[in-house]
Amino acid sequence: MADAPSRRGLVIAIDGPAGAGKSTLASRLARKLGYLNIETGAMYRALALKAIENDIDVDDERALVDLASSSKIALEPQMDGNRVKLDNTDVSTRIREKDVTDAASRVSIHPAVRQWMVQKQRDLGANGSVVMEGRDIGTAVFPNADVKIFLDAAPEVRGNRRFHQNPTEPTAAVLAEMRARDERDRNRPVSPLVPAKDAILIDSTNMTLEQVIERAEQIVKESVSRLVG
Ligand code: DC
Repeated sequence: MADAPSRRGLVIAIDGPAGAGKSTLASRLARKLGYLNIETGAMYRALALKAIENDIDVDDERALVDLASSSKIALEPQMDGNRVKLDNTDVSTRIREKDVTDAASRVSIHPAVRQWMVQKQRDLGANGSVVMEGRDIGTAVFPNADVKIFLDAAPEVRGNRRFHQNPTEPTAAVLAEMRARDERDRNRPVSPLVPAKDAILIDSTNMTLEQVIERAEQIVKESVSRLVG
Protein backbone atom coordinates (compact mmCIF):
# COMPACT_ATOMS: atom_id res chain seq x y z
CA MET A 1 0.00 0.00 0.00
CA ALA A 2 1.31 3.40 -0.96
CA ASP A 3 0.94 5.27 2.33
CA ALA A 4 1.45 2.53 4.94
CA PRO A 5 3.24 -0.59 3.76
CA SER A 6 3.10 -2.20 7.21
CA ARG A 7 -0.71 -2.34 7.29
CA ARG A 8 -2.31 -5.76 7.13
CA GLY A 9 -5.27 -4.64 5.08
CA LEU A 10 -7.28 -1.71 3.81
CA VAL A 11 -8.87 1.14 5.67
CA ILE A 12 -12.37 1.52 4.24
CA ALA A 13 -14.21 4.71 5.22
CA ILE A 14 -17.99 4.90 4.94
CA ASP A 15 -19.55 8.27 5.64
CA GLY A 16 -23.01 9.68 5.15
CA PRO A 17 -26.10 11.03 6.90
CA ALA A 18 -28.28 9.22 9.42
CA GLY A 19 -30.47 6.43 8.13
CA ALA A 20 -28.69 5.94 4.81
CA GLY A 21 -27.81 2.37 5.78
CA LYS A 22 -24.13 2.88 6.67
CA SER A 23 -24.10 0.52 9.65
CA THR A 24 -25.68 -2.32 7.73
CA LEU A 25 -23.36 -1.83 4.78
CA ALA A 26 -20.30 -1.52 7.02
CA SER A 27 -21.05 -4.67 9.01
CA ARG A 28 -21.87 -6.73 5.90
CA LEU A 29 -18.79 -5.52 4.06
CA ALA A 30 -16.56 -6.13 7.07
CA ARG A 31 -17.94 -9.64 7.46
CA LYS A 32 -17.30 -10.45 3.80
CA LEU A 33 -13.74 -9.15 3.95
CA GLY A 34 -12.94 -10.52 7.40
CA TYR A 35 -12.33 -6.95 8.60
CA LEU A 36 -13.19 -5.16 11.82
CA ASN A 37 -16.28 -2.99 11.70
CA ILE A 38 -16.10 0.21 13.74
CA GLU A 39 -19.28 2.25 14.22
CA THR A 40 -17.97 5.62 15.33
CA GLY A 41 -21.43 7.08 15.97
CA ALA A 42 -21.73 4.61 18.85
CA MET A 43 -18.80 6.32 20.56
CA TYR A 44 -20.54 9.72 20.44
CA ARG A 45 -23.69 8.03 21.66
CA ALA A 46 -21.88 6.39 24.58
CA LEU A 47 -20.41 9.71 25.66
CA ALA A 48 -23.83 11.34 25.35
CA LEU A 49 -25.32 8.63 27.57
CA LYS A 50 -22.65 9.17 30.17
CA ALA A 51 -23.37 12.91 30.10
CA ILE A 52 -27.07 12.23 30.64
CA GLU A 53 -26.35 9.83 33.49
CA ASN A 54 -23.99 12.29 35.18
CA ASP A 55 -26.12 15.36 34.60
CA ILE A 56 -23.45 17.01 32.46
CA ASP A 57 -24.64 19.78 30.17
CA VAL A 58 -24.24 18.70 26.53
CA ASP A 59 -23.18 22.28 25.72
CA ASP A 60 -20.29 22.17 28.22
CA GLU A 61 -17.37 21.23 25.97
CA ARG A 62 -14.70 21.12 28.71
CA ALA A 63 -16.82 18.96 31.01
CA LEU A 64 -17.57 16.58 28.14
CA VAL A 65 -13.89 16.11 27.31
CA ASP A 66 -13.10 15.49 30.99
CA LEU A 67 -15.94 12.98 31.06
CA ALA A 68 -14.65 11.26 27.91
CA SER A 69 -11.15 11.06 29.35
CA SER A 70 -12.40 9.34 32.48
CA SER A 71 -14.65 6.90 30.58
CA LYS A 72 -14.04 3.53 29.04
CA ILE A 73 -15.84 3.35 25.71
CA ALA A 74 -15.33 0.01 24.00
CA LEU A 75 -16.68 -1.23 20.68
CA GLU A 76 -16.86 -4.96 20.19
CA PRO A 77 -17.58 -5.85 16.56
CA GLN A 78 -20.26 -8.56 16.26
CA MET A 79 -21.83 -10.26 13.26
CA ASP A 80 -24.37 -7.43 13.04
CA GLY A 81 -22.90 -4.12 14.17
CA ASN A 82 -21.03 -3.29 17.32
CA ARG A 83 -21.65 -4.20 20.92
CA VAL A 84 -20.99 -1.02 22.85
CA LYS A 85 -19.66 -0.99 26.39
CA LEU A 86 -19.51 2.08 28.56
CA ASP A 87 -17.36 1.53 31.65
CA ASN A 88 -17.77 -2.23 31.13
CA THR A 89 -21.59 -2.08 30.97
CA ASP A 90 -23.32 -3.12 27.76
CA VAL A 91 -25.22 -0.04 26.56
CA SER A 92 -25.81 -1.21 22.97
CA THR A 93 -29.60 -0.92 23.22
CA ARG A 94 -29.82 2.09 25.51
CA ILE A 95 -27.70 4.30 23.23
CA ARG A 96 -30.23 3.92 20.38
CA GLU A 97 -33.01 5.58 22.38
CA LYS A 98 -34.27 9.02 21.44
CA ASP A 99 -32.80 11.04 24.32
CA VAL A 100 -29.33 9.65 23.64
CA THR A 101 -29.71 10.10 19.87
CA ASP A 102 -30.52 13.76 20.39
CA ALA A 103 -27.76 14.31 22.97
CA ALA A 104 -25.18 12.56 20.72
CA SER A 105 -25.95 15.01 17.95
CA ARG A 106 -25.28 17.90 20.36
CA VAL A 107 -22.20 16.36 21.94
CA SER A 108 -20.62 15.84 18.52
CA ILE A 109 -20.55 19.52 17.54
CA HIS A 110 -17.74 20.37 20.01
CA PRO A 111 -14.25 20.56 18.45
CA ALA A 112 -12.47 19.27 21.57
CA VAL A 113 -14.84 16.30 21.83
CA ARG A 114 -14.25 15.52 18.16
CA GLN A 115 -10.50 15.74 18.62
CA TRP A 116 -10.68 13.19 21.44
CA MET A 117 -12.88 10.88 19.37
CA VAL A 118 -10.76 11.18 16.22
CA GLN A 119 -7.63 10.17 18.15
CA LYS A 120 -9.38 7.10 19.58
CA GLN A 121 -10.74 6.18 16.15
CA ARG A 122 -7.29 6.48 14.55
CA ASP A 123 -5.93 4.14 17.20
CA LEU A 124 -8.72 1.65 16.50
CA GLY A 125 -8.00 1.65 12.77
CA ALA A 126 -4.21 1.89 12.95
CA ASN A 127 -3.61 -1.70 11.88
CA GLY A 128 -5.87 -1.51 8.84
CA SER A 129 -8.30 -4.29 7.88
CA VAL A 130 -11.10 -2.09 9.07
CA VAL A 131 -14.40 -0.75 7.79
CA MET A 132 -14.98 2.44 9.75
CA GLU A 133 -18.33 4.16 9.51
CA GLY A 134 -19.39 7.67 10.55
CA ARG A 135 -19.55 11.25 9.30
CA ASP A 136 -15.92 12.37 9.06
CA ILE A 137 -13.91 9.20 8.52
CA GLY A 138 -12.78 10.03 4.98
CA THR A 139 -12.28 13.73 5.73
CA ALA A 140 -10.80 13.87 9.26
CA VAL A 141 -10.13 10.47 10.83
CA PHE A 142 -8.46 8.75 7.86
CA PRO A 143 -7.97 11.32 5.09
CA ASN A 144 -5.64 8.76 3.46
CA ALA A 145 -8.12 5.88 3.67
CA ASP A 146 -7.70 3.38 0.85
CA VAL A 147 -11.40 3.39 0.01
CA LYS A 148 -13.88 6.17 0.69
CA ILE A 149 -17.59 5.69 0.19
CA PHE A 150 -20.21 8.37 0.83
CA LEU A 151 -23.56 6.65 1.27
CA ASP A 152 -26.54 8.93 0.81
CA ALA A 153 -30.31 8.60 0.29
CA ALA A 154 -33.26 10.96 0.01
CA PRO A 155 -34.52 12.16 3.43
CA GLU A 156 -37.89 10.44 2.98
CA VAL A 157 -36.19 7.10 2.43
CA ARG A 158 -33.85 7.66 5.37
CA GLY A 159 -36.83 8.64 7.50
CA ASN A 160 -38.53 5.42 6.56
CA ARG A 161 -35.49 3.32 7.30
CA ARG A 162 -35.42 4.84 10.78
CA PHE A 163 -39.17 4.46 11.02
CA HIS A 164 -39.01 0.71 10.48
CA GLN A 165 -36.50 0.44 13.33
CA ASN A 166 -38.89 2.20 15.67
CA PRO A 167 -42.45 1.62 14.44
CA THR A 168 -44.19 3.41 17.33
CA GLU A 169 -42.93 6.84 16.29
CA PRO A 170 -44.93 8.77 13.69
CA THR A 171 -43.17 9.38 10.38
CA ALA A 172 -43.53 13.18 10.55
CA ALA A 173 -41.81 13.32 13.93
CA VAL A 174 -39.03 10.99 12.77
CA LEU A 175 -38.50 13.10 9.68
CA ALA A 176 -38.43 16.38 11.60
CA GLU A 177 -35.97 15.01 14.14
CA MET A 178 -33.77 13.55 11.43
CA ARG A 179 -33.72 16.84 9.52
CA ALA A 180 -32.68 18.69 12.68
CA ARG A 181 -29.79 16.27 13.21
CA ASP A 182 -28.83 16.47 9.52
CA GLU A 183 -28.75 20.23 9.84
CA ARG A 184 -26.44 20.07 12.89
CA ASP A 185 -24.19 17.46 11.24
CA ARG A 186 -23.86 19.43 8.00
CA ASN A 187 -23.42 22.88 9.51
CA ARG A 188 -21.12 22.38 12.47
CA PRO A 189 -17.88 24.35 12.07
CA VAL A 190 -15.56 21.39 12.71
CA SER A 191 -15.73 18.34 10.44
CA PRO A 192 -19.17 19.01 9.01
CA LEU A 193 -20.78 16.17 7.13
CA VAL A 194 -19.47 16.58 3.59
CA PRO A 195 -18.20 13.95 1.19
CA ALA A 196 -14.40 13.80 0.96
CA LYS A 197 -13.23 15.11 -2.43
CA ASP A 198 -12.08 11.62 -3.39
CA ALA A 199 -15.09 9.74 -1.96
CA ILE A 200 -17.28 7.69 -4.26
CA LEU A 201 -20.95 8.46 -3.85
CA ILE A 202 -23.57 5.76 -3.57
CA ASP A 203 -27.08 7.16 -3.67
CA SER A 204 -29.08 4.31 -2.22
CA THR A 205 -32.50 5.99 -2.60
CA ASN A 206 -33.69 3.46 -5.16
CA MET A 207 -31.37 0.59 -4.33
CA THR A 208 -31.87 -2.58 -2.34
CA LEU A 209 -29.39 -3.50 0.39
CA GLU A 210 -27.96 -6.23 -1.85
CA GLN A 211 -27.39 -3.71 -4.66
CA VAL A 212 -25.65 -1.32 -2.27
CA ILE A 213 -23.37 -4.09 -1.01
CA GLU A 214 -22.59 -5.18 -4.56
CA ARG A 215 -21.71 -1.62 -5.57
CA ALA A 216 -19.52 -1.14 -2.49
CA GLU A 217 -17.67 -4.39 -3.22
CA GLN A 218 -17.07 -3.20 -6.76
CA ILE A 219 -15.66 0.09 -5.43
CA VAL A 220 -13.36 -1.80 -3.06
CA LYS A 221 -12.13 -4.04 -5.91
CA GLU A 222 -11.46 -1.04 -8.16
CA SER A 223 -9.60 0.74 -5.36
CA VAL A 224 -7.46 -2.33 -4.72
CA SER A 225 -6.49 -2.64 -8.37
CA ARG A 226 -5.66 1.06 -8.42
CA LEU A 227 -3.49 0.66 -5.31
CA VAL A 228 -1.56 -2.34 -6.57
CA GLY A 229 -1.56 -1.28 -10.21
O1 DC B 1 -24.32 7.38 13.18
P1 DC B 1 -25.06 7.71 14.44
O2 DC B 1 -26.48 8.15 14.21
O3 DC B 1 -25.00 6.59 15.45
O4 DC B 1 -24.27 8.94 15.09
C1 DC B 1 -24.66 9.54 16.30
C2 DC B 1 -24.29 11.02 16.29
O5 DC B 1 -22.89 11.17 16.26
C3 DC B 1 -24.84 11.77 15.08
O6 DC B 1 -25.54 12.91 15.54
C4 DC B 1 -23.64 12.21 14.29
C5 DC B 1 -22.48 12.04 15.23
N1 DC B 1 -21.31 11.48 14.58
C6 DC B 1 -20.32 12.35 14.19
O7 DC B 1 -20.45 13.56 14.37
N2 DC B 1 -19.18 11.85 13.64
C7 DC B 1 -19.03 10.54 13.44
N3 DC B 1 -17.90 10.07 12.89
C8 DC B 1 -20.06 9.64 13.80
C9 DC B 1 -21.21 10.16 14.37
